[in-house]
Amino acid sequence: MYIGFLNPQGNFDPEDSYWMEHPDFGGQLVYVKETALGLAALGHRVDILTRRIKDPEWPEFSERIDRYVDSQGVRIVRIPCGPDEFLPKEELWPYLGTDWLEGILDFYDDQGEVPDVFTAHYADGGLVGALINEKRGVPFTFTGHSLGAQKMDRYDVTRDNLEEMDERFHFGRRLEAERVAMNRADRIVTSTNQERYKQYSHTAYRDAVAVDDDRKFSVIPPGVNRRLFNPDPGPEDDEIQSRIETALTRDVPAAKRDLPLVLYSSRLDRKKNHIGLVNAFLKSEQLRESANLAVVVRGAENPLKDLERFTGESREVLEEITEAVTEGGVWDTVTSFPLENQRELAAAYRWGAEHGSVFSLLSLYEPFGLAPLEAMSCGLPVVVTNRGGPTESLVDEKEGLEYGVLVDPEKPREVADGLLKLLTSEERWKEYQEFGIERVISKYTWEQTAKGYRDVAEEIASYPTSPGEEIPIPEYFTAPSPETDIGLKRLEEIYFD
Ligand code: F6P
Repeated sequence: MYIGFLNPQGNFDPEDSYWMEHPDFGGQLVYVKETALGLAALGHRVDILTRRIKDPEWPEFSERIDRYVDSQGVRIVRIPCGPDEFLPKEELWPYLGTDWLEGILDFYDDQGEVPDVFTAHYADGGLVGALINEKRGVPFTFTGHSLGAQKMDRYDVTRDNLEEMDERFHFGRRLEAERVAMNRADRIVTSTNQERYKQYSHTAYRDAVAVDDDRKFSVIPPGVNRRLFNPDPGPEDDEIQSRIETALTRDVPAAKRDLPLVLYSSRLDRKKNHIGLVNAFLKSEQLRESANLAVVVRGAENPLKDLERFTGESREVLEEITEAVTEGGVWDTVTSFPLENQRELAAAYRWGAEHGSVFSLLSLYEPFGLAPLEAMSCGLPVVVTNRGGPTESLVDEKEGLEYGVLVDPEKPREVADGLLKLLTSEERWKEYQEFGIERVISKYTWEQTAKGYRDVAEEIASYPTSPGEEIPIPEYFTAPSPETDIGLKRLEEIYFD
């Protein structure tokens, strides 16, 4: 088959540039790239459609066509979408249904051949999937990755702060795009059953999709890139070992320097709740005596001391961490160091696995949680949030087995106890290490994900699912103007009423 991925935000290049460094260069790009590579490995032809960027700050994304070295079956196709310079995903709305859509249609008209199926990712990709479907009849799948209504819940959006929040995140445009995408998609792909029933049943989407309509949904978990994340020594291991040990020597007194680490390597995004782990260390002396906390950040030699290098939410998160650590007087149990890419991250996970360490992720809500599986795949046991995807990926109800320790991310004592459960028992630590690797290999590889997408693509190409009542595509997306914009009144109707 010929499959087109629609992913305008972030970008793609052979070096996976900027991954982990910017909110738009997070797990979704890993997901799209690895699924695309997996489909090509199954013999299918794949285009990843993204945005052309001509910006000296972001020099990797100006070529129209790009390819991955180890996969000739995948093309990265960059189509202009608004101005030349890089734009965060929140600013793409006026250009998706105009420049980008027209550019894509022209690209395929010139080629004289269009993909059999599109797979659209996030609200922005989903909107364009619906528009191409309307103009060319090509069936499409929609994968939300994260939905705006949940983000509004998490950010406590009210009628009072609605205007300010919509200014910053354009929730009106995002929710309208999500509603259109889920309403018109031939299939909605979620990573877990929970995502389907909890996220797509939000009142904001009540008339857009029937969450109990089995024809509309397929659960296809993402996978771990086991080329990168595996227990076998890699070329970066020595460099990362010395980077970690240098940081420990710099930050932790000799008496504690050989303790295991609790590694926290998420984006500096409020929803990742770094402070939840700091609070666990503040609350539990036993935890401080059993391990040191390592905050992994990209882009600064000594992240917790080089705050001036950060701005926005990243800066706020780092300030919150450093203020709490200072107030608690626990600087002797905290270290931080940079990891610049996934290879270095995998090397750090392997170092952790050799030193009885633990990976932690305490998100207030984690749609799926790929990072814990990546750590487990390197042999590093995990203690993670009990909110979201990890409750499915790390617990097997049937076998009653737990592959990671789940904790309430906002209860410091419970977090501390969860960490101590592994840190104080070598036997239990080893059990979680072995079970964790097995869990990933059996259920969470990108090969499995690609097979899931192939099956869905074949199904919808032969029997497009009629979406029933079609939601009209708001005029704003194809004729953006202050008059057609999605105003606050409409956003209130969708989200509050
Ligand atoms: O990369 C993972 C991801 O969920 C992307 O889908 C998205 O760009 C970002 O992180 C989350 O975006 P938001 O905070 O706007 O939901």
